[in-house]
Amino acid sequence: MEGRKPGGALRAGEEVILVDPKGEERMMTLSPGKLFGTHKGNILHDDIIGKPDGSRVWTAMGAEYRVFRPTFNQFIMNLKRHAQIIYPKDIGPILLWADVFPGATIVEAGIGWGALAIKLLEAIGPSGRLVSYEVREDFASSGARTVARFLGACPNHEIRVRNIYEGIEDRDVDRVVLDLPEPWHVVPHAALALVPGGILLSYLPSTIQVKQMVDRVEEEGGFTAPEVFEVMHRPWHVKGQSVRPVQWMFSHSAFLIVCRKIS
Ligand SMILES: C[S@@+](CC[C@H](N)C(=O)[O-])C[C@H]1O[C@@H](n2cnc3c(N)ncnc32)[C@H](O)[C@@H]1O
Repeated sequence: MEGRKPGGALRAGEEVILVDPKGEERMMTLSPGKLFGTHKGNILHDDIIGKPDGSRVWTAMGAEYRVFRPTFNQFIMNLKRHAQIIYPKDIGPILLWADVFPGATIVEAGIGWGALAIKLLEAIGPSGRLVSYEVREDFASSGARTVARFLGACPNHEIRVRNIYEGIEDRDVDRVVLDLPEPWHVVPHAALALVPGGILLSYLPSTIQVKQMVDRVEEEGGFTAPEVFEVMHRPWHVKGQSVRPVQWMFSHSAFLIVCRKIS
């Protein structure tokens, strides 16, 4: 895995985030000779290339913007995407509850837009291995593109265009992480693929799906009782005397269902 290389001046071909005076973000790829249009005039990409991360830049009409290399959250949230992704608030807990460690062998499905795959690859590092099952060829390609845009080449990442409900070929897998509509079909395959003590984690938006998954795990046997939870993230507004939770929040994404294989 090449990995990210933050630091140094902003280079042509890199993605950057422009933050306007109101805090709104736009992501773009730096290309010599190009313009970034705003309603307060243009910014020349050439005025950004060579500047340090976090620099100030101005439009022709004098509006001030900040320019940054995107963090993972900024990159993912500003992607033009056609599949539902796992949001950053859930990716952190997934890495912890699946206990993803450097050198781990992980099977995930499906890759979708590749948000989770990026963080799994960073967490396992170059000595680990990630296999992403994806049933749709278009998502397999877009997931691969997103991963490459953020991390560069990842020789330890294999994308298999296959239906994971039909089986997992690998053995001695440390973790199986599923973001699929019907993960219960994968339970017997995960039981064969996982090492003893290995973790099966699923991510499901509805309670009906959660119940079906928990029932299937219990029916299969050979797993610990599933732990089920959701993650709340409540942003706050802090300005002058106004110190309170924001009025609108993203209230639900999905539940995490986690269990371990027993020998
Ligand atoms: C919600 S998206 C995954 C998003 C991804 N976790 C991310 O963070 O960007 C679900 C993906 O699972 C894929 N999928 C659905 N059923 C599948 C199956 N049986 N085998 C493999 N992939 C499947 C879909 O094509 C879709 O790309």
